[in-house]
Parts: sequence; structure tokens; C-alpha cells
Amino acid sequence: MHKIVHKQVLSPVIKLFEVEAPKLAAKARAGQFFILRLHDQGERIPLTIADYDREKGTITTIFQEVGYTTKQMGQLNEGDSIKDIVGPLGEPTEIENYGTVICVGGGVGVAPIHPIAKALKEAGNKVITIIGARNKELLFWEEKMAAVSDKLIVCTDDGSYGHKGFVTEMVKQVAAEQEINRLWAIGPMPMMRAMAATTKPLGIKTIVSLNPIMVDGTGMCGACRVSVGGETKFACVDGPEFDAHLVDFDLAMRRVAYYKDEEKRAAAKGMCGREEAE
Ligand SMILES: Cc1cc2nc3c(=O)[nH]c(=O)nc-3n(C[C@H](O)[C@H](O)[C@H](O)COP(=O)(O)OP(=O)(O)OC[C@H]3O[C@@H](n4cnc5c(N)ncnc54)[C@H](O)[C@@H]3O)c2cc1C
Ligand code: FES
Repeated sequence: MHKIVHKQVLSPVIKLFEVEAPKLAAKARAGQFFILRLHDQGERIPLTIADYDREKGTITTIFQEVGYTTKQMGQLNEGDSIKDIVGPLGEPTEIENYGTVICVGGGVGVAPIHPIAKALKEAGNKVITIIGARNKELLFWEEKMAAVSDKLIVCTDDGSYGHKGFVTEMVKQVAAEQEINRLWAIGPMPMMRAMAATTKPLGIKTIVSLNPIMVDGTGMCGACRVSVGGETKFACVDGPEFDAHLVDFDLAMRRVAYYKDEEKRAAAKGMCGREEAE
């Protein structure tokens, strides 16, 4: 059992949990994730390690309530527990001193971009972070991102805060002013696809963190397969980070949509998709 020691409501649909998980906290590195089950019959859901505290033995995760399990999770409170957590999973981010880098977080993607920006800054990079959301209410961790960046730029689609417009346009502006040696982009699949299309002509090596459907997280079930540079890869063990310019985003987006009807039915019936929840 993993106790929730701190809960924060970041927006009506985005919540932060700090959870006791000493073994995970001891090994966690930027770019990695874990899989949790809320209870014995619960479905397994992957979430990124947004932060960790090795001394306290806790990890922080930020999740968006999109379907049955994440909505159920959002109702838990400080003092409640999560049944099990497996991880850290996935390959850590390749951290080197590249020079000047851009870290882009879109929506809930701000959470996974945080440990990456922090590690890149510690490695001596000049870190320019761009965070974006549909509107001001959906933005979070502005101060925390500023603390691990040399420069922070905030964008909203509707202009309710920061610069009005998409993060892709901001990347073009920043890249016009200085040489960018590498870029990380994490957010919704359409945003990552648009970022790949933006940075390819600019010649900026771009890394995205893919979030396909995952089941076992061990490379055995094949649920998370993606096509990268014409090769089949499993996001749980080969990724989740990949070279954005080699990812077949059309296929990845089609695969994520495969189970939409089942997810809608599960959410409507109050079931986890396979077995009745507690
Ligand atoms: C490596 C990785 C890291 C992730 N990190 C985060 C994070 O830090 N914060 C966050 O809010 N979300 C994250 N996600 C997405 C998160 O796992 C899904 O939102 C969650 O599983 C949805 O479960 P649900 O039962 O609430 O919704 P469902 O009703 O099952 O599904 C709602 C939506 O979530 C997607 N989804 C469903 N099951 C999975 C699954 N097993 N894996 C991936 N996507 C799924 C579906 O495509 C669907 O669009 C991550 C996904 C991956 C693969
Ligand atoms: S989740 Fe099963 S192979 Fe990746």
C-alpha cells in the first residue's frame, strides 16, 4: 500500500498526489514512469514521475481525470492509499550538456517535462522552457518550472494568460533568435505531432514522450507498440521517449483511438473496462 501524503487540486480536472514509494523514489530518473492499480480489481494505469524526494521516500505525480480510473483516483484524499505501484519503468532521458535546449510542456505534459528540465539544467544546459495550456485555469507549476529554467515562456490558446497562441509558434520565434541544440516536447499527441513538423525544417533534434495504451509495461503484451523510423518499438521498454522526426504519429493516434468506444462504455457503466471495480 502506498499512502497519499499530499493532495493538491491544480484545476477541476488536474490533481497532484505525493505518494509514499521509497523504492521508486530511490531509483527514479527523469523520463521514467510507473504503473499503478488503485485496488485489487483496478485497471493498470501508467503515470509519469513528475518529481521525487529520495530523502522523504515519496514521488509526485500529476494526473488528468479523463476516464473511469483517473476519475476514481481524483476522489482519493490525503491519508488514503493506492494498492500497488510498479516502477520505475521506461528508459530514462538521455541527459548531457547539449548547449541551449528547449523543453515544451503542453497541458498535463508540464508534469513529465519538469524532471527533464531540472536534470538538463543540472547538466549545465541553458534551458528555455515553454509551457502551454488551453486557458489560464489549466496552467500549473509556473513557479516550479521557472526555478529549473533559465527562461520560462507561458502560452495560452485563448490569450487568457501569457502569450496568446500555440507553443509551436513560440518555438519558431525562439529558434529565430538563437541556436537551439535540442528540444523535448511532451503533451497531447496532436501537439507532439505538430512540434515534430515545426522543428524538422528548422533542423532541431526533437524528443517526444509517447503515451500509447499500455497494459503490462514489460514489453510482453504489445499494447504499446509504435512505429519509429519504420521499426516496431514498445513504448514501455524502448521509450517512452523517441526521436519525434522518426515517429509515425498517424499510426500512433489511430491506435490510441482503437478503444474509445470501450472506454466510453466503461466510464458510463462505472466499470474498469474488464472487471467490476470495488
Ligand atoms: C508512459 C505514460 C505516462 C503517462 N503519464 C501521465 C501523466 O503523468 N499524467 C496523466 O494525466 N496521464 C498520463 N498518462 C496517460 C494516462 O495513463 C491515462 O490518462 C490513463 O490511463 C487513463 O485511464 P482512465 O481509466 O482514467 O481513462 P480511460 O477511460 O481508460 O481512457 C481515457 C483516455 O486515456 C487513454 N488511455 C487509457 N488507458 C491508457 C493506458 N493504459 N495507457 C495510456 N493511455 C491510456 C485513452 O486513449 C483515452 O483517450 C500516461 C500514459 C503513458 C503511456
Ligand atoms: S505495455 Fe505491454 S508491451 Fe508495452
